[in-house]
Amino acid sequence: MGSNQNLTARPGRFQYRATLTVLTRRVNRVLYLVLIIRRLISPAGENRRLMRYPVSFKIEGRELLPPLVLSPMAGVTDSPFRRVAKKCGGLGLIVTEFISVEGLTRGNLRSHEMMRFKPEERPIAIQIFGYDEVRMRWAAEIAQEAGADFVDINCGCPAKKVVNGGGGSNLLRDLPQLKKILIEVRRAITIPMTVKIRAGWDDKSINCVEVAKLIEDCGGAMVTLHGRTRVQAYKGWADWDLVREIKRHVSIPVSGSGDILKPEDAMRRFDETGCDAVHIGRGAIANPYIFRQTWETMNELEPYQPTPREMHDLLLEFRDNLREHMPERGVIGRMKMLSAQFLRGVTGGAHIRTAVLRSQSVEEMEPLFEEYFALAEIYGIDALLQSAPDEQAELAECGV
Ligand SMILES: Cc1cc2nc3c(=O)[nH]c(=O)nc-3n(C[C@H](O)[C@H](O)[C@H](O)COP(=O)(O)O)c2cc1C
Repeated sequence: MGSNQNLTARPGRFQYRATLTVLTRRVNRVLYLVLIIRRLISPAGENRRLMRYPVSFKIEGRELLPPLVLSPMAGVTDSPFRRVAKKCGGLGLIVTEFISVEGLTRGNLRSHEMMRFKPEERPIAIQIFGYDEVRMRWAAEIAQEAGADFVDINCGCPAKKVVNGGGGSNLLRDLPQLKKILIEVRRAITIPMTVKIRAGWDDKSINCVEVAKLIEDCGGAMVTLHGRTRVQAYKGWADWDLVREIKRHVSIPVSGSGDILKPEDAMRRFDETGCDAVHIGRGAIANPYIFRQTWETMNELEPYQPTPREMHDLLLEFRDNLREHMPERGVIGRMKMLSAQFLRGVTGGAHIRTAVLRSQSVEEMEPLFEEYFALAEIYGIDALLQSAPDEQAELAECGV
């Protein structure tokens, strides 16, 4: 209801934003083409430097460009956020938040709603989690029918609720069951099946290389490793040596996940591991432009910094996306998530950020946004859009 009122109240603004979206997408497309042509025609020395990083990666012959993936995050990578991230550019693939196969196969409306996506979110992988191979197969079929480009199987979630049901990272210590699931799902769908795993259950049972080989043998089209164990949850740092190990043992594409907070982190990981792609999760909550900035930095271009006006528009677009998707009380919390990241780095702006985080309604936030971005236009934004490690821990707390 709220969103409809908004749509009819200010058609001009919506038309302006729709045009801007189309323009942004066209500019992004042209930019990628220019970068690829540049690689092809640059002198040998420079070319060798640029060639260190992959331009794209392939899943069963389908080329995805650039090799940067929005990592699945429960409560975060829903359609409103995915659309905002996609608009910022530089995304080769998007993965939905995980969806319960129990919910899907028992007709739970919310689980089915979680599968919905807009055409502009493609290419998209729908991630499912569960234990029972028959329900996993059935859910994969539902995901394929919903139009997914890929079905991703979650073997990494450390949450008690998920693990106690046998799914998520529990499958890393139940390989016979994992094998059954992989075989059933592979047989049931015609689109590629990908799998996201952790290093192992605990540091005494690190088995990700064995699991990756099993995934390849059962017809998996890509494996993604988040290099922490289940017991580790989000503590410490992800072990990217394991990504390199997996890469040495399988011939399907390998993506790595964990602690990529700025373009240089991604480049270092490509260099060190030879991985085909990288997943970015918390770094994208902090800065949805990170994919575009990474792609540009990999190609020796200045990373793009959005203008205050653009950031303001993006926040409002996020609000409108959210209102289409959920009741107003949900919108407030999610707006605070993105505002906490966007409203930083302006001298004298800290009190506005605090006021936004204390707001009881989106209407209360809107004049604060106006005030903040007006200040940003005058004084500029000092800090680059980037996340601090202490916030990463805080964000992980809200995760699974
Ligand atoms: C809030 C939150 C929710 C997450 N939900 C999922 C999920 O649904 N499925 C999944 O495979 N991983 C999930 N993850 C793990 C991330 O995809 C990623 O592997 C992990 O956070 C490490 O990468 P990062 O340091 O780039 O965030 C989640 C992480 C967070 C912080």
